[in-house]
Amino acid sequence: MKKTLLLSIGLFLFLGFTENFNIESSTINFSEDIAPIIYENCSGCHHSGGIGPFSLVSYNDVFTNKTAVDYSISNGNMPPWPPDTSYSRFSHERVLSSDEIFKIQSWVANGAPQGDSTLAPAYPTYVTSGPTLGVPDLTLSAPVYVSNAVNHDDYVCFVIPSGLLQNRKIRAVEVEPGNPEIVHHTLVYIDPSATYQTDTSGHCMGPTSFSSKLIGEYAPGSLPTIFPGDNNLAFGVEIQAGSNVILAMHYPFGSNGNTDSTKVHLYFYPTSTTNFREIYIERIVENWNFCVAPNQVQTFNAQYPTNGSAISTKFSVYGIFPHMHLLGKSINCYSVDSNNDTLNLVNIPNWDFEWQGFYKYTYPQVIEQGSRLYSQASYDNTTANSHNPNDPPEIVCAGLNTSDEMFLVYFMFMDYQNGDETLNLDSLDQLTNVEMNSIYGNNTFLSAYPNPTNTGVNFSFKNNQNNIVDMKIIDINGKNIYNKSISTTLGLNKFYWNTCSNNGTKCPPGIYIYGFNFNGQWEYGKIILK
Ligand code: HEC
Repeated sequence: MKKTLLLSIGLFLFLGFTENFNIESSTINFSEDIAPIIYENCSGCHHSGGIGPFSLVSYNDVFTNKTAVDYSISNGNMPPWPPDTSYSRFSHERVLSSDEIFKIQSWVANGAPQGDSTLAPAYPTYVTSGPTLGVPDLTLSAPVYVSNAVNHDDYVCFVIPSGLLQNRKIRAVEVEPGNPEIVHHTLVYIDPSATYQTDTSGHCMGPTSFSSKLIGEYAPGSLPTIFPGDNNLAFGVEIQAGSNVILAMHYPFGSNGNTDSTKVHLYFYPTSTTNFREIYIERIVENWNFCVAPNQVQTFNAQYPTNGSAISTKFSVYGIFPHMHLLGKSINCYSVDSNNDTLNLVNIPNWDFEWQGFYKYTYPQVIEQGSRLYSQASYDNTTANSHNPNDPPEIVCAGLNTSDEMFLVYFMFMDYQNGDETLNLDSLDQLTNVEMNSIYGNNTFLSAYPNPTNTGVNFSFKNNQNNIVDMKIIDINGKNIYNKSISTTLGLNKFYWNTCSNNGTKCPPGIYIYGFNFNGQWEYGKIILK
């Protein structure tokens, strides 16, 4: 990915932008050009209480860190996005365009001027408490557990009765680790048969009962599972009345003696939802039969079906999640159909254990009948791998501990339906990119998009109570041209403004200020009508 980024910057400069480089770059300032890029792409993680190591929410923050910011975006480290975008594309990619990279580089090269601070968008605001997706329909807590990871990693499965009296359709799953410092990962299953029992033997990787379904996961760097859906077509996972929910927990070696009680929050579609399509989440491509020799970089293969036959029923892939441990170097996955045509699914060229999760496609990737799935995974068991847990390197084999290796590719998929190839899942997406990033950073967030616009503006924000939120639009002369009282629900809310003033006339192009009043406090931002 780094190479691709650098190459595209190079091309960008080469293709004529060098001519007006000086004119362009000398006018680039924080308030108008840089703040929107940083607030949309960085602040969600880089704010106080967020997962980034320092804040990037004001001019001073960004100015202070400008050299590191320039370096991190130029080498492609930030924002973190492991998949190779030249191999396959996903929705909600955390990547900057070459234009955005160019702007930040030129701005830093020019001394990083602030510009007119009154033109800057409002600081993004963040609140950190409770589930990030708003009030859940059902929260289940694992019992308080003391990690037993004395000699090995502790794998424990907790069975929690859902208490559901009727079947529900799940639209989102959020895991809230009780003790984030010791929760290495969590897999969430439902067991409709309610037969599987809690297993604290230390070796439980998930339920063994055949009927249980994986519905969500938490791993370093992953987001809540949010299925696409709107009033006409809803994707998700059905949970039956009386089901148990199973949390398969992984506490790493060394965490013994520390307590945890992890929660899972479930969000349901309304019971009246029709036109529902079930999503299945399973490990499809995997290899449990390999060892990586010390001081070697080795590549292994996996394929599905494992017996050499071909896939018998066409299906549609919604998301993919490659998983390896600390020796992981790279991993890919693709399918080859009966005509020998290859469909690239995912490629992680520089595996980073800290950044993993499900990557979701904008359009379902259709796996034809007669296809086979393949994956290659490379492992670096040399001292050059800074994550290598052993120095000197030791032989490491596939297994269940963090110090063992893994080679798994999870799929989210559904039965194929006509038209899946052109079904835009993003249009059914419950969240936008900005909202995704803000959820990532666990905050409330007021955003306006597209901006600039010539049609209309979608505002979205999270509110921490059910009430009326007043909003207003002010023109450049300070005149109030539009007001609205929006009745909101707790959690994520959206409001569309068609760029007309209160009396229904279209607003002329120019700069406008929007304000939203949350519990007595106004938050402002700038929008430009083209
Ligand atoms: C998804 C969360 C996330 C986003 C989005 C993000 N960062 Fe980071 N950033 C981190 C974390 C976590 C670290 C700590 C190092 C690590 O884990 O890689 C970090 C580290 C950094 C560092 C320290 C040097 C380095 O490369 O490790 C810089 C500089 C930085 N980020 C800048 C940015 C900029 C600029 C953006 C937006 C273009 C951005 N980050 C977006 C999470 C994020």
